[in-house]
Amino acid sequence: MSRDRTILQSEGIHKSYRMGATEVKVLKGVDLAVKDGEFVAIVGASGSGKSTLLHILGALDKPDRGVVKYEGQDLSRRRGRELNRFRNKMVGFVFQFYHLLDELSVLENVFLPAMVSSSVIGWFGQRMHARKRAEELLAQLGLAERSNHKPYQLSGGERQRVAIARALMNKPTVLLADEPTGNLDSQTGNGILRVLEGLNKAGQTILMVTHDERIAERAERTVTLADGRIEYHKGQDQTRKALT
Ligand SMILES: Nc1ncnc2c1ncn2[C@@H]1O[C@H](COP(=O)(O)OP(=O)(O)OP(=O)(O)O)[C@@H](O)[C@H]1O
Ligand SMILES: [Mg+2]
Repeated sequence: MSRDRTILQSEGIHKSYRMGATEVKVLKGVDLAVKDGEFVAIVGASGSGKSTLLHILGALDKPDRGVVKYEGQDLSRRRGRELNRFRNKMVGFVFQFYHLLDELSVLENVFLPAMVSSSVIGWFGQRMHARKRAEELLAQLGLAERSNHKPYQLSGGERQRVAIARALMNKPTVLLADEPTGNLDSQTGNGILRVLEGLNKAGQTILMVTHDERIAERAERTVTLADGRIEYHKGQDQTRKALT
């Protein structure tokens, strides 16, 4: 792991939504760089475009203009299945409302990304391995006893830990989390933050959206999204700038 290697970069991201006759400019040129092993928080008022930005960074949505690069590779050059494969490998996504599939068991939810990213024959060959990894992740997140439960049988904090395990399944380059604690009481939310901190200490790069400044303080670097742009950088970058 090299701390100075930029692994996720956005340049000049623009995004507007058309609502009838009016055009709402949400992002007006977002530049952001995340380095290998960093834990970055994006804060900003409700409606400032945090989710929009995260979805674009995670290739779940497309910008009107601008580029997103993972390890120097431009996302916009990829389409369809190739884009899906790329996303599957590079990005793990954690949502505020978990987005787990209630028909599947906890274990199946976790290994789903591995299943989706392999061919039918490929899956046949690697399903034991995938199952084992899913079990290990669940154990790591304190959910070994919950493998055969259905998501609706779990508490909010447990569901979010399942969602984190699912996001980690394919060993993503970056973990993107959109208000991962937003739906939880503060104590449970703190537990989730501790999980994210632990993952980051073990080397996982994390980009997290929150509108809670106190939660953002736990990250090593905070950026603010306001008026469609990244407004100021606090922490590491600022220190570096001050030193040079
Ligand atoms: N699909 C869409 N169609 C039209 N407008 C949208 C769409 N998605 C988002 N917007 C608008 O874009 C703006 C930014 O939304 P976004 O969800 O990114 O904000 P946010 O910072 O994540 O807010 P919150 O903190 O409440 O989650 C809002 O004004 C929203 O109404
Ligand atoms: Mg949002």
